[in-house]
Order: sequence, then C-alpha cells, then structure tokens
Amino acid sequence: MFDLIIRNANLPDGRSGIDIAVLSGKIAAAEPAIAATALEEIDATGRLVTPPFVDPHFHMDATLSLGLPRMNRSGTLLEGIALWGELRPTLTVDALVERGLRYCDLAVSQGLLAIRSHVDTSDPRLVTVEAMIELRRLVAPYLTLQLVAFPQDGYFRAEGGVKSLDRALDMGVDIIGGIPHFERTMEDGRLSVAALCRIAADRGLPVDMHCDETDDPHSRHVETLAAETVRFGLQGRVAGSHLTSMHSMDNYYVSKLIPLIAEAQMNVIPNPLINIMLQGRHDSYPKRRGMTRVRELMAAGINVSFGHDCVMDPWYSMGSGDMLEVGHMAVHVAQMASVEDKVAIFAALTVNSARTMGLQGYGLNKGCNADLVILQAQNPAEALRLKPARLAVIQAGRVIARTAPQITELALEGRPSLLDGSSYAPRV
Ligand code: FE2
Repeated sequence: MFDLIIRNANLPDGRSGIDIAVLSGKIAAAEPAIAATALEEIDATGRLVTPPFVDPHFHMDATLSLGLPRMNRSGTLLEGIALWGELRPTLTVDALVERGLRYCDLAVSQGLLAIRSHVDTSDPRLVTVEAMIELRRLVAPYLTLQLVAFPQDGYFRAEGGVKSLDRALDMGVDIIGGIPHFERTMEDGRLSVAALCRIAADRGLPVDMHCDETDDPHSRHVETLAAETVRFGLQGRVAGSHLTSMHSMDNYYVSKLIPLIAEAQMNVIPNPLINIMLQGRHDSYPKRRGMTRVRELMAAGINVSFGHDCVMDPWYSMGSGDMLEVGHMAVHVAQMASVEDKVAIFAALTVNSARTMGLQGYGLNKGCNADLVILQAQNPAEALRLKPARLAVIQAGRVIARTAPQITELALEGRPSLLDGSSYAPRV
C-alpha cells in the first residue's frame, strides 16, 4: 500500500501512460500500470507530470517592492540600482519577510519549489541578510531557498563592501556572489573575481556571480571567472549569471571563450525576461537582444539554466513567479522553437537548474523526493506555449497547492464550444 499513486502521467522525457507511486515522501516507482493501491490516487489523465520548477537566479530582497519609493523612469539597469539604493535605508526585516513570504506563496502555487536568491550585502546594517535568513527558515519545510551574498554596489566600489560580504557569510549565507562589471575599472572587476573565488576556496563555498551583465563587447569578466574557477579548483561549483556581454562579443573571441567555460564546468544562468528588458538600452536601431548565446553554450555541453531574476521590483515591473513565462521568453529570444529546442528549454527550467543549485534527490527516479507538478498540458512544448494551470503541486508526497483547470465557457449561436480545456492536436 502506497501513500499516493498518480495514474496515467506523461513525463517530460516523452514517456506516457506512467503511474508514479509515492511512499514516505519518496518516489517508490514510476512505471506503466502499477497494480498496487494507495491511500490517495490522482488521475493525471495523460497530462504532463514533472519534477518542480527551479529558479536558480532571483532577488528575493527586492521582490514586490515596485513603486517604492518611486518608479524606474528610464527603465535601465543603472537607474534600477540607483532606485534600490534610495529604497535600501528604509527597509525593515518585517517588511522584507512579509514580501518574501508573499512571493514564496506565489512561487509554490506555480510549482516552483527551489529558488536561489541573491541578497544585497551593500548596506552594513545587513537588514536584507537577516530577513532572508529568517525567510529561508520559515519556508524550509516546503521550499528550498539558497542565499547568495551579493555586493550590489560593488565589492571594492562600495565603502565597506568587503567587510559586509564577509559578515553575511558568517551569518549563514550559502554562496559567494559578485558584480565585477560594476566595479570602477576592468582591473578592479578582475581583482574582485579573483578575491571572491579565493574566499570560496578557503571557505569551501560555491560561487554565483552576476558577470558581464553589460552590452560591452570588450568586457572580459566571464573569461576571468572561468580562469579563476580553474586556478582555485572550483570546477562545477561556480555559476555565471547573465553573461550578456557574450551577445555583443566578436565571434572569434567567443570561439575561445566557450571552451574555457566548458573547461571550468561553469553553470550559466541567463535571465531571458530581464535581459530582453534591460539590455540594448543604449542602442538606437537596430537594438541588440542582449541575451547570452544559449544555443552555442548548450551545444558545448555547458549546463544552462534560466532564472526569473526579478518580479515587480526596481528593475522589472512585470513577472508572476511562473518559470514557464521565463521559458516562453527564452524560446523567442534564443530562437529555439524546434521540438528538441523546447525540450532543452524545459530542462533548463527544471533538471538543469536543479543541477546548478546542487539539489539532492531531484527527479523522477525511484528514491527521489516526491516533489511533482501536474500541468494542464500534455508535454513540455505545450506547457511552454500555454503556461497552463498547475493542477496540483506535490511536495514530499503531499498536495500543497491545487488550481482548477482553465476552461472557458463560450456561448455561441448554433454550435457547442470547442474550448474544452483539453490539448489540441490537428487532424488531417
Ligand atoms: Fe540578478
């Protein structure tokens, strides 16, 4: 007798008609026609059942602060940083925790059960760090929240930046961040990458840096991050976020850079929604898209995972905590619309992100955590197209969120509605 059996599931790898049995919070079996019974059964009716969405790049301390203390008028990254600097002195632990909890509720409802959040360490009060550590504790029973010490105003550029980051790590932040392209000079940026990788090696921590979030084709911090990763033996423990400069770089130079990233086993985290919104702002026409070279990075065997980055904050007034919205934008901006491309994009929202975050027990194999999402779609391509309802979100074998199927009732003269909430497949 199992605790739960989900019947007749389609899986992201294309298998269909699969039953998934759950016992004591773990997947006990995933195979066709399981004969046993369970305390609870859910009929997936041929819909997609996936491990949960994973967001490897977010800013939980800034989320849902849109309009505080004013809106970003230019829409640029730099005005966003300035605006955040205005808001920062007014932040309180209570308000940050309340906004974070509200966002986590939204995330869970969308089947997003693991988030890596950068936390600004620029204000020496470290109110943001205190709040995010409390939030991590509060959501721990159902959502994995990893924290990155992020020197938003520059590790060297901000007064006290070095000390504050160190204190944040002492307080229990999990990962070392950075922002080399925002240091005063290219040389300071290079030195910050080296210094931060050294701390990672000394403390035995992973690294996840905002790296070259710029349109400058001559910025060289991605190369430095890859080189320092190898120098300090941090292969597989380092992520580079954004890497938007690679969009604008010379092709010959990139042909050298991508193998360096692969050699360093660096995880790459583009943020399609934010990169398409913020990059190319200094261009007239044509305007660059600004997203890094997703297809080429994937082709080189590099682990690419997509982040949501921002939701309703000084940088981005949109967003809903839905990783399928991120994937939907990725399909367009990366121009990856074939069947195989969409499978790769869906993986970048799930298994690749789980790998970036080093999540244990993630997946659909026997013994994995019984964390599952049932979508109102048949397969990853349809999920990316429709961003459909998350019919059930299951964590450790327990349904923690339910959403009713989206079915629109049409009242038309003379014939019944063809919108019945099921998948569409053309007939010859
Ligand atoms: Fe970011």
